[in-house]
Amino acid sequence: MYLALLGMLWFCPRLKGQENSFTINKIEMKAEPGWEVENGKNLTLKCLVDIITTSKLWSQHQLLFYKDDILLKNVTSWDKEETFFIQAARIYDRGNYKCKVILNNKEKTTSDYSVSVKGVPSPRVTVDKMEVMEGSMVTVECSVPEEKPPIYFIVEKLEMDICKQRKEKMILYKNFVTLEFPIEEKDRVLIFQCQAKISFGNFLEASEFTKSDLVTVRETFSTPSFQIIPEGEITEGDPLKLKCTIQVTHMFLEDRELIIQKDREIVAYAKHDTEVTYSPPLAKVEHMGNYTCKVESSKISKVNSIFINITELFSKPELLTSSSHLDEGGKLDLSCQIAGSPLANFTIQKENITITNSQNFTKRVWVQDSGVYRCLAAIRNVIKESDPVQISVFEIVSKPRIYHGSKSEVIQGRSLNLYCQSINGTPPIIYNLCKMNICMITKKMYSNEPALFTVNPSATTEYTCVAKNHHSKGSVTSDVLNVEVIVPVVRVNLSILFHTEVETGKEIMLFCKTDEASWPIHYKLYRHNAVVPFFEKTLNDTQGLFHTFQASKDDEGQYYCTASNRANVPNSPKSNILTIKVTLAPWMKGLIAMVIIGAIIIALVLMARWYFLKKAKAKQMPVEMSRPEPLLNSNTEKMQSDSNMEANSHSGYNDDIGNHTMKPTTEHKEPDHLNMDVEYTEVEVLTPDLPRAPERRGTETVYSEIRKSDSGESRRSRIEGSLDAT
Ligand SMILES: *[C@@H]1O[C@H](CO)[C@@H](O)[C@H](O)[C@H]1NC(C)=O
Ligand SMILES: *[C@@H]1O[C@H](CO)[C@@H](O)[C@H](O)[C@H]1NC(C)=O
Ligand SMILES: *[C@@H]1O[C@H](CO)[C@@H](O)[C@H](O)[C@H]1NC(C)=O
Ligand SMILES: *[C@@H]1O[C@H](CO)[C@@H](O)[C@H](O)[C@H]1NC(C)=O
Ligand SMILES: *[C@@H]1O[C@H](CO)[C@@H](O)[C@H](O)[C@H]1NC(C)=O
Ligand SMILES: *[C@@H]1O[C@H](CO)[C@@H](O)[C@H](O)[C@H]1NC(C)=O
Ligand SMILES: *[C@@H]1O[C@H](CO)[C@@H](O)[C@H](O)[C@H]1NC(C)=O
Ligand SMILES: *[C@@H]1O[C@H](CO)[C@@H](O)[C@H](O)[C@H]1NC(C)=O
Repeated sequence: MYLALLGMLWFCPRLKGQENSFTINKIEMKAEPGWEVENGKNLTLKCLVDIITTSKLWSQHQLLFYKDDILLKNVTSWDKEETFFIQAARIYDRGNYKCKVILNNKEKTTSDYSVSVKGVPSPRVTVDKMEVMEGSMVTVECSVPEEKPPIYFIVEKLEMDICKQRKEKMILYKNFVTLEFPIEEKDRVLIFQCQAKISFGNFLEASEFTKSDLVTVRETFSTPSFQIIPEGEITEGDPLKLKCTIQVTHMFLEDRELIIQKDREIVAYAKHDTEVTYSPPLAKVEHMGNYTCKVESSKISKVNSIFINITELFSKPELLTSSSHLDEGGKLDLSCQIAGSPLANFTIQKENITITNSQNFTKRVWVQDSGVYRCLAAIRNVIKESDPVQISVFEIVSKPRIYHGSKSEVIQGRSLNLYCQSINGTPPIIYNLCKMNICMITKKMYSNEPALFTVNPSATTEYTCVAKNHHSKGSVTSDVLNVEVIVPVVRVNLSILFHTEVETGKEIMLFCKTDEASWPIHYKLYRHNAVVPFFEKTLNDTQGLFHTFQASKDDEGQYYCTASNRANVPNSPKSNILTIKVTLAPWMKGLIAMVIIGAIIIALVLMARWYFLKKAKAKQMPVEMSRPEPLLNSNTEKMQSDSNMEANSHSGYNDDIGNHTMKPTTEHKEPDHLNMDVEYTEVEVLTPDLPRAPERRGTETVYSEIRKSDSGESRRSRIEGSLDAT
């Protein structure tokens, strides 16, 4: 009871200590042996707190250890110091550590303390075999059991400290790696080594290289070796034998193949065997070269090479010829020669058929003797063949025939096919096309078919062709082929001589002309809007035609003409439109004026007379007043008949115009119409608008035939103009 009370008294100040004042003065961390520690070393982290209190006793507080803000340890302590022990620090122990103290409602935390761990423990390396055959595999395992992944592994295959193969691999979820290494033909004693690398933030830590045990490699088969028969110098014609052999380990059961190769060609091979032989019947110069023997299993291949030198017995023969291009009937000399002229047996062949068994051959040749010749030379059992020689025998070309394909005439601007053909003569035949003796196009024909030349003649011209082959006689020329070119009418011009304003009764001279176009040219004159020409004519002249007629008021209007030749049908070009105006003749105007003046004079006379009669009547009696009336009537009648006359003459004129035809009108013919005068007038025509005919003379002579009839009213004339061209 007392004891209990005493105990309570003893504890009382402690319990009451909560009411004491206190402060957390300081909190810090210490590391042993330090903040940087070697991999595998023990590391002790200490948290030191300094609490000041009014009580004499230390109060109980809570201490918490954190790594990267993750709680590691939570202890309730009475002490100033608490430890956190890391046995064998590893890379994954790196990080930022801190500790916190909590007392009642007060707490204090240290700053972050960075722990770094140096180095990676050496990895362990194991191999699955200590002895291995060429072509098989070795499995290498490398591990770092102390560390946590990810780990980057580097494994190397070494022979005599020389790295022969290297493999690298990142392992994410294990701390070991298993890698397979193939064993190759030249591997003998191998060792494998491994390194581990671990990265931590920006830092990379690498281990030392750890070496495995030795791995011994056993040969499956030996490198092939050559045996050459005969030994020593090999001469052409000797029997030749190349033998290639290998030794095979009795344990090796896999399929293998032996190959003898010369350059890129396999000359001999054997399967499942230990030797292979290449034996051409006789050694020849072309057997000289580099021979390779290869042994191949599925994974292993071993190679050996040898150079075989063969001494030439005699050099390759040469077929000499007087000429490879011969005229028919010429002499061919063939001779087979060997450098040094040793004693040999010769054969000369044409197209693989023997023509002689001697060294020389002479013949008069014909076309059939063309062909490929070669010769063979034999000494002992060695036969050598010369290069082929092409002998060509040429028949002279026959006179070529030149002709053109188009049936109709050639129109300017269109192309024309010209053919040239020599029926006889050995091809190739070279044809030359010549225009006015200037040869311009060449064609080579490999048969006697005609050569085609496409030309585009612009004017009538002469063509010849020249044929030539390899015959020495040279070339043969064809006959002349005259190609007539029709120049189409391009432009037509209609003009009028003198003025477009013509008085009635005067002659209208229409002149339709073209630029240079081929004859004959068909001209047509139209009144505007008329479907049928009122005049047409075919002329052998580019200077066109004249058409003359006497103007009447009805001739007023628009005219045009067309011109065409064989090249233009059916669309012939049209000329410009010419407008002609017909005015009254001065004598007609005079006549009308005279009639009017006469009428006025008569009126005045009548008025004067009437005036005097009135005056007289005023003096005498009004009985005579009705006397002038009949006189007046007779005068008006006369005037009416005059105007009728004029109207009638007009209508008669109209009829004439309506019958404008090419034929002379017959209805007005008088019996003496044959009695006409023929006049030849020389007219000077100015041709300012003829830029396309520079050779034309400035003055041109127009012979116009004018027919005069007796009747002045129906006088008609036609002038057919023919201007001297060229
Ligand atoms: C590390 O700690 C372990 C366990 O406490 C102990 O057995 C070992 O001897 C220590 N190593 C060193 C080098 O002090
Ligand atoms: C530490 O442990 C105490 C008692 O075991 C507990 O009350 C407290 O919540 C723990 N603190 C943390 C941060 O877990
Ligand atoms: C023969 O071939 C081997 C292997 O390809 C090569 O090394 C050698 O130079 C060649 N010799 C001749 C003479 O071509
Ligand atoms: C082959 O042998 C001849 C004579 O022994 C020699 O002159 C020649 O250089 C050799 N050819 C080669 C390619 O070795
Ligand atoms: C002629 O012989 C050569 C080689 O000897 C051969 O290549 C060619 O094919 C032969 N020609 C004919 C037509 O038999
Ligand atoms: C063949 O002709 C050559 C000269 O071209 C001559 O030297 C050689 O003796 C001739 N051979 C025979 C067998 O006539
Ligand atoms: C040429 O041929 C004859 C008969 O076949 C042979 O006896 C002779 O040895 C040959 N000459 C040469 C140089 O090969
Ligand atoms: C044009 O000339 C040709 C040949 O010279 C002739 O046949 C033809 O009749 C002539 N035509 C005219 C309209 O004069």
